[in-house]
Amino acid sequence: MGFTIREAVPDDWQECGRICYEAFATVAARHGFPPDFPTVAAAAEPIRYLIDHPRIYGVVAECDGWILGSNFLDERSTIAGLGPISVDPAAQDRGVGRALMTAVLDRAVERRTPGVRLIQIAYHNRSLSLYAKLGFDIRGSFAAMYGEPLGITMPGYAVRTATSDDEATCNALCIRVHGHDRAGEVREAIADGKANVVERLGRITGYTTGITYFTHSVAETTDDLEALIGAAADFGTPGYLVPLANTQLFRWSLAHDLRVFFVVNMMTLGIYQEPAGAFMPSVGY
Ligand SMILES: CC(C)(COP(=O)(O)OP(=O)(O)OC[C@H]1O[C@@H](n2cnc3c(N)ncnc32)[C@H](O)[C@@H]1OP(=O)(O)O)[C@@H](O)C(=O)NCCC(=O)NCCS
Repeated sequence: MGFTIREAVPDDWQECGRICYEAFATVAARHGFPPDFPTVAAAAEPIRYLIDHPRIYGVVAECDGWILGSNFLDERSTIAGLGPISVDPAAQDRGVGRALMTAVLDRAVERRTPGVRLIQIAYHNRSLSLYAKLGFDIRGSFAAMYGEPLGITMPGYAVRTATSDDEATCNALCIRVHGHDRAGEVREAIADGKANVVERLGRITGYTTGITYFTHSVAETTDDLEALIGAAADFGTPGYLVPLANTQLFRWSLAHDLRVFFVVNMMTLGIYQEPAGAFMPSVGY
């Protein structure tokens, strides 16, 4: 099939949003899962945000003026987050997905990005295989947890809104746990009033850019993460991502009546170090 790849432009958001909805909903329905994005609008708004964002690179595949799919590379921090990638169900399995992946990976090489990561929906054999063929390694599996907010406060764990004065401490904590910071995302979340920190004995021991699928958290201990989750106003769906290796946090979430939406894998290309602390990834990584 003849198609070309070009950079996404603002006018693409509606068609890319429709395709993103259809692509994810079709695969989900085939596997008996609810769609990741419940409506076209729920997919199109994040796509619009990604296309408009100056530090997120987007590409579309096009054939005779028709968009076939899109892909994104989040370049806000040291490590780039890839996705969402989606191809029109009518055009799938013909190399469009591979070309959209190659386009953003070429961009990462051009910019000398030390690492690229993504979150892969575990039930989708095709994306798993495609990413593995392109060199991505699986680093862990995560359950997306959703449900009612918990309204829990833990004695000795003070959760409060993060301010710009906390930025350096949050970034230092991320470096300690992951070996790199996520400064771009932290700065944005603080500016939007969406980041929280948890303090023990007056010291910051964890932060979150939001307890959702789209945001990440880093902490010294799982208890710190529990305090941040306990204070969150909303998890949304598919919900926050719990490392299945963190059995304490997974069982704690289940014990608080939260439910598993689906299981995803984190896959990485380039620099990676095993996290030395507690964390929850975003849909990027
Ligand atoms: C994932 C997605 C983007 C892939 O796009 P696509 O155009 O269908 O994929 P391609 O045809 O380029 O590549 C598929 C590759 O996987 C291989 N493949 C497909 N099913 C496979 C399987 N069951 N086992 C092994 N390999 C498989 C194909 O042979 C092909 O490999 P190749 O590039 O070496 O020839 C597309 O299916 C999609 O939009 N899915 C819905 C949204 C989604 O799930 N996004 C990813 C979220 S993690």
